Amino acid sequence: MVNSRKTDSPESQALGSNSAAVIIRDMAIDDLAPIYHLGEELFTSDLYPYLYRTWDEWEVIGLYNTDPEYCLVAEIEEQVAGFVLGTVISKASWIYGYIIWLGVNAKFQRRGVADRLVDKIVERMIEEGVRFMLVDTDPTNAAAVKFFTRKGFGNIRKHIFLSMNLSKHEQYGRLVAYERDKAERAGKRRSRRPASNP
Ligand SMILES: CC(C)(COP(=O)(O)OP(=O)(O)OC[C@H]1O[C@@H](n2cnc3c(N)ncnc32)[C@H](O)[C@@H]1OP(=O)(O)O)[C@@H](O)C(=O)NCCC(=O)NCCS
Repeated sequence: MVNSRKTDSPESQALGSNSAAVIIRDMAIDDLAPIYHLGEELFTSDLYPYLYRTWDEWEVIGLYNTDPEYCLVAEIEEQVAGFVLGTVISKASWIYGYIIWLGVNAKFQRRGVADRLVDKIVERMIEEGVRFMLVDTDPTNAAAVKFFTRKGFGNIRKHIFLSMNLSKHEQYGRLVAYERDKAERAGKRRSRRPASNP
């Protein structure tokens, strides 16, 4: 349940054949937990391992703290239907707008909610001087790729992620041996100590 609060230029609009109206508004403090949990439902380890690994409560809290003007919520019938979290990166020659996270509750998908969220964040970014937008996602995320392509994003470049299991690293092995040794020495010290009187 979302508390009533100040809305940012509320834009209520009936969505397609579904009569419920969507309101795009600024994220507020009460939205932190619902957005985090919605992200947990959407960015699953089996579907999108990278998104799953990088999504945590600090993504929501951190961006709400640093970029509140680019943290928007779509509300339908007092429920958080979706969210977009973004930031702006200023370089000498360009100001980039970056959509970091976008998610829509499965029961409200394919009703134009993400469309409205992205339109609003882009509008805000243009007002702030952004002239170039960036977004990334898992290459197998067909819904997102289709969505962003349809919104006008293009020039797709693949970026590879490499990983290493540090439990196989020699430094990790040394650390485990050191900790084991320390625990054994502590155990021996305890057993040498005379038993204290009750
Ligand atoms: C991607 C996502 C945000 C789209 O949200 P949405 O509100 O359903 O999108 P919209 O209703 O605005 O869709 C607009 C268009 O995008 C495309 N699209 C959206 N979802 C699609 C899907 N599942 N399959 C194919 N195309 C899709 C369609 O062209 C759609 O238009 P149409 O419904 O008239 O065919 C949503 O599927 C989602 O939350 N996915 C999981 C999280 C995620 O992957 N986020 C992006 C990376 S951070």
